[in-house]
Amino acid sequence: TIYFVDGQFTDKDGVRISIDDRGYYFGDGVYEVVKVYNGELFTAQEHMARLLESASKVKMAVPYTEQQLIGIAEELMKKNDIDTGHVYMQVTRGASARVHHFPDMNVPPVVTGYAIVNPRPVLNLQEGVAAKTVEDIRWLRCDIKSLNLLGNVMAKQEAHEAGCVEAIFVRDGIVMEGSSSNMFGILNGIVYTHPATNLILNGITRQVVLEICAELDIPVLEKEFTLEELYMMDEFIMTSTTAEVTPVITIDNKKIGSGVPGPITKKLQEAFAKKLP
Ligand code: PDD
Repeated sequence: TIYFVDGQFTDKDGVRISIDDRGYYFGDGVYEVVKVYNGELFTAQEHMARLLESASKVKMAVPYTEQQLIGIAEELMKKNDIDTGHVYMQVTRGASARVHHFPDMNVPPVVTGYAIVNPRPVLNLQEGVAAKTVEDIRWLRCDIKSLNLLGNVMAKQEAHEAGCVEAIFVRDGIVMEGSSSNMFGILNGIVYTHPATNLILNGITRQVVLEICAELDIPVLEKEFTLEELYMMDEFIMTSTTAEVTPVITIDNKKIGSGVPGPITKKLQEAFAKKLP
């Protein structure tokens, strides 16, 4: 694998990261995952715009423009000869002796990345997956794609131990999002998803699905729904850069609808596939 570290492309042996990196001490950084299909980045502009937005929300300077970040991602994709996979990029607030407050202005942020082969999750897309609800114990700025993922990690592990692919966060009885995905319920032909507030990440895949719904005249309500309402849905899906539009067919061991991927889910999947390079 070829990595990008501090302006240079290098193999793994050439990577040097400080033990004082604030990403390592505090999770003080932001990141993005961009999918590659047929040797082309998908929605790279949206992802890099969000990277800069996340950085700005935590008052972090990024030494690259959106276009430059896309350029780095493209280089990583090419140097690693990726046909179907993803590019990972992160920015931390740099390396400095451990104190909580921001380091001096002259401490440069550390930008790193790599690209890796990652096939489409064909079986999950076809057959659907199981999920488990968990209490949302995260902070109140889930709109920031922060490296601080302990709440997400704990949730995913709980799901994993229960034999589930994803954990669904529930806060005060309201369904929020997945540990690394957004969630949509479908009831009587209407698509429901949590509004893009500070309590969820506004996924790029989420936005693509909303765009598809508009194109196909499928009604959407970006509106809160409860855990009880979740169990009543006809269909349920999770979306993310890597999961695409994955049907969720059981939640907490209860079947959703008839327990197989439903007709609107399939329509959305088909339209999504058509948008890919
Ligand atoms: N996760 N919500 C959370 C908490 C996420 O971590 C992610 C993405 C999403 C979906 O966002 P998008 O459609 O832009 O990928 C929603 C990435 C893939 C990850 O952490 O690996």
